[in-house]
Amino acid sequence: MPVTRTFSIIKPDATRRNLTGAVTKMLEDAGLRVIASRRIHMTKDQAEGFYAVHRERPFFSDLVAFMTSGPVVVQALEGEDAVKRNRDIMGATNPADAADGTIRKTFAESIEANSVHGSDSDENAKIEIDYFFKPEEVVG
Ligand code: CMP
Repeated sequence: MPVTRTFSIIKPDATRRNLTGAVTKMLEDAGLRVIASRRIHMTKDQAEGFYAVHRERPFFSDLVAFMTSGPVVVQALEGEDAVKRNRDIMGATNPADAADGTIRKTFAESIEANSVHGSDSDENAKIEIDYFFKPEEVVG
């Protein structure tokens, strides 16, 4: 299996409950390595740009408000088949549907406050990593 990269966000509901380490440990235990990490408070412009693909969805303005409601931790992750590996450990978007042992089943509060974001494809992983990190900040 090739070593690839993905992008992760530890969301405001998780940072508020001091779960950055607990979430990161679950990512690491799943075989992912943190190769870039920064704690930021996203601006409205940053959040709207990041989630532009969802601009027409009814939850867009709530999503942007939530993602700018507190600190987040943006991360680049590396591992074998990283996008799928990360999606498997995150669990389903809605924690009510997430499997036992996943991050969202363990920690998420709701479909909006669902503790983590992860890229859905290799192509989007590169776009999302590049959105938040300069090349020299990603150290694999
Ligand atoms: P994320 O992987 O960050 O990508 C878009 C986010 O929109 C998603 O996780 C959810 O947290 C959030 N969201 C809020 N409401 C909904 C909804 N009804 N359906 C899908 N995603 C939603």
